[in-house]
This record gives sequence, C-alpha cells and structure tokens, in this order.
Amino acid sequence: MPLEGVFRVTVLNVNLAENSYDIVIERGALASLGERCRAIGLKGVAAVITNPTVAALYGTVVKKSLESSGYAVAQIEMPDGEEFKNSATLNQIYDDLLAAGVDRSSFVVALGGGVVGDVAGYAAASWLRGIPFVQVPTTLLAQVDSSVGGKTGIDHPRGKNLIGAFYQPRLVLIDVDTLATLAQRQFRAGLGEVIKYGVVVDVHFFEYVEANCAAILAMESDYLIEIIHRCCQLKAQVVELDEKEAGLRAILNYGHTLGHAFESISGYQGLVHGEAVAIGMVLAAKVSAAVGHCTPDDVVRLTALLTRCGLPIDIPQYDRRQLLHAIAADKKSKSGSINFICNQGIGMYAMSQHTPEELLILSGLEA
Ligand code: NAD
Ligand code: GLY
Repeated sequence: MPLEGVFRVTVLNVNLAENSYDIVIERGALASLGERCRAIGLKGVAAVITNPTVAALYGTVVKKSLESSGYAVAQIEMPDGEEFKNSATLNQIYDDLLAAGVDRSSFVVALGGGVVGDVAGYAAASWLRGIPFVQVPTTLLAQVDSSVGGKTGIDHPRGKNLIGAFYQPRLVLIDVDTLATLAQRQFRAGLGEVIKYGVVVDVHFFEYVEANCAAILAMESDYLIEIIHRCCQLKAQVVELDEKEAGLRAILNYGHTLGHAFESISGYQGLVHGEAVAIGMVLAAKVSAAVGHCTPDDVVRLTALLTRCGLPIDIPQYDRRQLLHAIAADKKSKSGSINFICNQGIGMYAMSQHTPEELLILSGLEA
C-alpha cells in the first residue's frame, strides 16, 4: 500500500521567501486552473504555451477553466520535441506573445511536458523582463522534477540547457489524470528521474519504488500520487536550501553529466531525456563504485530497478571525440574538471572532481 499520510489532494509549499509557491497535486486538477490562478492574484491575458499533442488533449479543458474565471486566453503552440527547445522556437513565442497583447499585467501558463515547461518558463522569465507563470506539467518527468524549482531554458546546439534562467513559477498544478494519455515510453522515462531521488537522497523511497514497481508501472493512481508527492517534497527541500545551485542542488543532476552528453551527441533525437538519464545513472554508479563511494552490488541493484522499470541501460554507439566535447560542455565543468555527482551507497550523494577523460575510464566506457 502507499505510505501513510497522503491524501488525494496534496498541497506542498516551496518556501523561497518572496518567490514561494504551492505545488497542488490532484486528480482532475486542470478544471480548477482558472480558480487557482485567480486565488493567487494573476490578472490580464492568460498566454497558454503548449504543443499540438498536449493542446489536442487538454487545451479545451484548460481554456474553459481560465475563461470561466474571467481570463482572456491566448493559446500559443510550439512544435513538439526536444529538438525544438531552441532559440528559433523562443523567438516565435516572443512574436506570438506580442501579437496576443501579452503585457506586464498578464501571465504565462506552461501546459505540457518538460520541454514546454522549460521553454515557456524561459519565455516568461525574459518577456518584458519577466511576467508571472504557472506550471501545468502533463508528463511524469515534468510532474516529479522539471516543473518544480524554477530552472527554465533552452538548448544550444553544443549542449543541453546552456541558455536559461532561474525563474520560479507562481504555482505548479499537477493533474495526475493527464498521465493516462502519456505514451508508455514517456512514462517510463519519467521513472528514471523518480529513481534518481531514491539513489541520491532517500533510501526508503528507493525501497518503496522497488517494492511497488508493478503497481507503479500499472499506473495505479494512489501509487502515482505517492511517488509524485514524495519527489516534489524532496525536490522542494533541496531547492529551498540551494535555489540557484551554488552547491547542494547539483545532486539533482545525478546521472545527467553523461546522460546529457549522450542526448546532445544524438542531436536530441533517439534517446528521450529520462532514458539518457537512466544510462547516465548506471555510468555514474560505476564511477561511484570505482572511486569507492558504493559497492558493485549497489550498481547491480540500481541497474536491476531501472531494467524492471523498462528503462534502457545499454550504451548507444558514440564517437569518442564528440562524447568528450559534450561532457566538457556540461554546466558543472570548471577549468576542464567536472563536479561529478556520485551515489554514496544507495540513498546518499557524494561529489568528486574528474576530467572528461577520467570519467570515460572510471565509468568503464574505456578500459
Ligand atoms: P517532453 O516535454 O518532450 O514530453 C514528452 C512527450 O509527451 C512529448 O511528445 C509531449 O508532447 C508528450 N506529452 C506531454 N504530456 C502528455 C500527455 N499527458 N499525454 C500524451 N502525451 C503527452 O519530455 P519530458 O520528458 O516531459 O521533459 C524532458 C525535458 O525536461 C528535457 O528538455 C529536460 O532537459 C527537461 N528537464 C528540465 C528540468 C528542470 O528542472 N527544468 C528537470 C528535468 C528535465
Ligand atoms: N533537475 C535538476 C534541478 O532541477 O536542479
């Protein structure tokens, strides 16, 4: 059974002084969006930034909810896919915001997965030097990770998320029911980020996912609410301690240094983000074992859980020079050395400094 103390409507608070906000987790929450935007004092035009896939599924209910609370709604669609998380898409969104008369008294609603959330959040952060925005995440990955914590941005051809801003949403509204339409592959990719929290900060949560893997994969709503709630709680705790990633927040990038590198050299096509993170976590665990932070058994345990969750663990074909370049472009790289996030056993993090070349050897990519 799910852990105790979780109700069907959960409200968590991310406590960041004047940038604080609520995360509402609720089945059917989309219908209450307009009401909740009014309750936090949002005014003007609601610019709903989404993509055609999500718009077809949830655009109408969102528009209706906002309109019934008295908002004029402008729906702006960006193309679907990580390969469109770029400056061309952002410029088109600026044109659309201008055309829709979105001024400083208006706000943005990011309706979709992590790609829409990151791009729409950055559009909100930069449009007219910043207008309020609300995250309405519709993928598991976005519900457990990307919609919380205020990281917004776009990719650069040389590296993921290299352009962006820390800009907190005014509200995160999570409708668990939207996961019903999500492709299995995307759902499993989200589980990669779920498992990440267990590995680096919470062994009990790792054990919970191990014990309830079947119910989670069957998308039983109580279990979904439980994992989303716990991930948001853990993320909020880390972000409250280190909003702008001066140190601690980097632990949430576990598995991302090598994962991002594989994602970037594939031109953001091929592996989806959560899959790349899963492969990156296996490699990070191998690095952790090689430097003595965990045992080989911990690597096997993590790999087994990722496999049970249907995540890939095999290394894609790659060109060594390209991979080294991509690792070096990591945001955690300083003067040729990467602040690499390891796991200390299962449930705790450790950090160590390595060059990209050392990472290839320690992770077993090279003998
Ligand atoms: P995504 O946004 O590409 O969504 C995956 C696919 O699912 C898309 O085709 C989308 O249209 C579709 N989709 C979305 N909701 C749906 C629904 N309810 N039903 C059916 N289809 C739906 O991918 P993602 O995994 O959500 O996000 C990945 C992105 O998130 C990456 O760009 C990554 O860098 C970013 N990210 C950001 C943070 C952060 O802190 N800002 C954290 C983790 C990941
Ligand atoms: N997903 C990593 C972070 O939000 O910091």
